[in-house]
Amino acid sequence: MWGGRFASGPDAIMEEINASIDFDKRFYKQDIEGSKAHATMLEAAGILTKEDKDAIIKGLDQVRSEIDAGSFTFSRALEDIHMNVEARLKDLIGEPAGRLHTGRSRNDQVATDFKLYVRDTIDMFIGQIKTLQLEMVKRAEEEADTVMPGFTHLQSAQPVTFGHHMLAYVEMLGRDVSRFYGARKRLNECPLGSAALAGTSFPIDREMTAGALGFERPTANSLDAVADRDFVLEALSCASICAMHLSRLSEELVIWSTAQFRFVTLSDKFSTGSSIMPQKRNPDAAELIRAKIGRIMGALTSLMIVMKGLPLAYSKDMQEDKEVAFDAFDSLGLALAAMTGMINDLKVNREAMRDAAGSGFSTATDLADWLVREANVPFRDAHHITGAAVAKAEEKGCDLDGLTIEDLKEVDERIDSRVFKVLSVENSVKSRTSYGGTSPKNVREQAARWKEQLASS
Ligand code: ARG
Repeated sequence: MWGGRFASGPDAIMEEINASIDFDKRFYKQDIEGSKAHATMLEAAGILTKEDKDAIIKGLDQVRSEIDAGSFTFSRALEDIHMNVEARLKDLIGEPAGRLHTGRSRNDQVATDFKLYVRDTIDMFIGQIKTLQLEMVKRAEEEADTVMPGFTHLQSAQPVTFGHHMLAYVEMLGRDVSRFYGARKRLNECPLGSAALAGTSFPIDREMTAGALGFERPTANSLDAVADRDFVLEALSCASICAMHLSRLSEELVIWSTAQFRFVTLSDKFSTGSSIMPQKRNPDAAELIRAKIGRIMGALTSLMIVMKGLPLAYSKDMQEDKEVAFDAFDSLGLALAAMTGMINDLKVNREAMRDAAGSGFSTATDLADWLVREANVPFRDAHHITGAAVAKAEEKGCDLDGLTIEDLKEVDERIDSRVFKVLSVENSVKSRTSYGGTSPKNVREQAARWKEQLASS
């Protein structure tokens, strides 16, 4: 493509380090869409004849179907997807192919392709996350009354419901979706026509290409348009946060599915066995999702470091943006799909959860609250009195509701037998009716709100 100035071809190693076709062929669809929009605009602007434009569009459609069909031969000597497509177009239609590159460069072309690709990827993630949320909302409805221990420091804290726990993740994923929407909106400006870095002297219509490719507007500065990859970084950042959420839930599933917890059973479809220990059921899918954050966050770090310190405008360093990003996007896509399958298949062991919810003096706060409410004790004193009751129960080797009224009166005279009502885990969760609290009634309302929201968006 630049043979005019060169006496020899590249060294074999140069070709290997320089070529991106092995990975950027991934966005051939975006590349061809961009070229079609560009050719259409060139004709409208009087830069291409109608015959040339028609030949180019027809040729590009042909290239597209060859790649779709797997019959296209990619060549490393042609470096990247842009030149592979153009070279094949030249084979097919001859001279007009050489007119397509008027008023553009590979620099604005690759920025446009990648933006289109990231936009498509974001749209896919948004759909996937919503599907996962819906699955969780269904589980939340089914398990609105299922009492389980709520933890802080992974120590029993207060009883909550499993439905409430599911909805906590629905909220987190909801913010992930909104972050992806934000990233999508910011990236939706079209670089095409910025050319190599300075714009072009041809009377191109950038509004037209931007519109044809579904962008809101053309980018306003040609240097910025070809030099930044913040749109990839932002998508990777959203992906990292989402993967972090999935990783936390995965960790919980790993813990909950142990023989010690038995809160849940993962389906056969998302578990594996051991080649030596016949009894084993390993939560491999959960473990792998837990780990994906490493690669995704790694991609973000990697690209951030590639970009830092690069002077404007394009440098070949930026070709290193793709492999890590593709790997990260694939990883998140797979993690979301696997988590959706696992949640869908998850068996909740209500009894094990309920038993565990009652242990560890989890209703101690309810006893303290009762003293405040019924005996007008200041909360700090009630906390102290309850601490003494817990110590007594520990001494006797029972839970709080295993203490007799005599035991309790010994701790504090003002306690009477009405207190037993608040010491059960069921009553504890039922009483948490403050907005956002864990009561089954709240959980049902929140699940209904999410269902409606997910159906309407
Ligand atoms: N393959 C290149 C990339 O991925 C396309 C842009 C090349 N531009 C250039 N001036 N060499 O970044």
